[in-house]
Amino acid sequence: MASFQTLDDLDADQTVLVRLDLNSPVEDGEVQDNRRFERHAKTVRELADDGHRVVLVAHQGRPGRDTFVSLDQHADILADHVGHDVGFVADTHGDEAIAAIEALEAGEILLLENTRMADDELPEEDPEVKAETEYVQALAGAVDAYVNDAYSAAHRKHASLVGFPLVVPAYAGRVMETEYEANTSIATREFDGQVTMAIGGTKATDVIGVMNTLGDKIDTFCLGGIAGHLFLRAAGYDAGYDRHEDLDLYDSQWEANQEIIRDLLAERGDQIELPKGLAYEDDGERAEHTNEELDAGAYDYMDISEATVEAYEPYIRDADAVFVKGALGVFEDETFSTGTVGVLEPIAETDCFSVVGGGDTSRSIEMYGMSEDDFDHVSIAGGAYIRALTGESLPAVELLLDE
Ligand code: 3PG
Ligand code: MG
Repeated sequence: MASFQTLDDLDADQTVLVRLDLNSPVEDGEVQDNRRFERHAKTVRELADDGHRVVLVAHQGRPGRDTFVSLDQHADILADHVGHDVGFVADTHGDEAIAAIEALEAGEILLLENTRMADDELPEEDPEVKAETEYVQALAGAVDAYVNDAYSAAHRKHASLVGFPLVVPAYAGRVMETEYEANTSIATREFDGQVTMAIGGTKATDVIGVMNTLGDKIDTFCLGGIAGHLFLRAAGYDAGYDRHEDLDLYDSQWEANQEIIRDLLAERGDQIELPKGLAYEDDGERAEHTNEELDAGAYDYMDISEATVEAYEPYIRDADAVFVKGALGVFEDETFSTGTVGVLEPIAETDCFSVVGGGDTSRSIEMYGMSEDDFDHVSIAGGAYIRALTGESLPAVELLLDE
């Protein structure tokens, strides 16, 4: 099996450039702490404690968006998690950045400015092209080694992600190692018994991709989310239709995917568990319809019904492995968290092998009093997680693998 060079393989006393993914929610200009800081802190602390000079790079937001801000706040948040000072310089790869790198002592940590503020970073280009950019050449000249810990950004062919491995010795960080192993486990591990995937979220194409790629590995798909509504529509129920002119949740996805969804139901119907009903809001309270009662023209459905949770539960309790991709309902509102929490709780309570990921889904674990320790892996990746599940390669990961 292909494998990484890791921190265990680094020579002593190196100046190490480390790519993290600290991309975070920003509210009113304030960067919000989140588990990415906590996870990456492990890699950073280990490097500093081993006496390396640690130079960190990361991105935040995209140009033109409110979340596109400096990393100065990230340095403070990260420092709290690492338990060491983290210096910051407001320069991506210019003279100021290089001087700050050269001034580092053993065990010191420095964060450079938002990679996406460098012109070379964003255009998606091949590693060979990125390796020749000023950004990569300038930083590579100031360091001995490159560590990529940014699994959750590894689907991007950006300079800081794919340029360095061609120029300096490259290693996988601890987050990179764990994410890669867990998120490919569905393909690489053998399971003796039932394998279940609870799958929801907003994108039909994600669900379709996963069913097509993993249909032979997964015994049962338990459906929810927007995608679940579209499958109900394909099965002839009155769900998965838009009812607000300014909100396109269903109809364009339906137009683009209805035939594939119908084919999947025809070919894999015995593997696909559809919701038994959906929940909506009635005077501030949760109310439910069975599939026969659904009325998409009059109600906004926000979660799978309790009967659905009961129907899904045995597929989880009796499973050898459970994978979760995407939320089953709008869990951010407690009223509609029943589906998502109802799937996660039995996973936490039993000792099946479990991986949870997909956008914000994993946030519900903390929100509703569960512990990440009760799952084998809770991914911090969104786009990269779905690509891993559907067997797409991640360019920045490929460059680190030795086979
Ligand atoms: C993420 O937050 O999902 C990753 O950091 C990738 O960010 P991007 O979608 O802006 O490239
Ligand atoms: Mg468990």
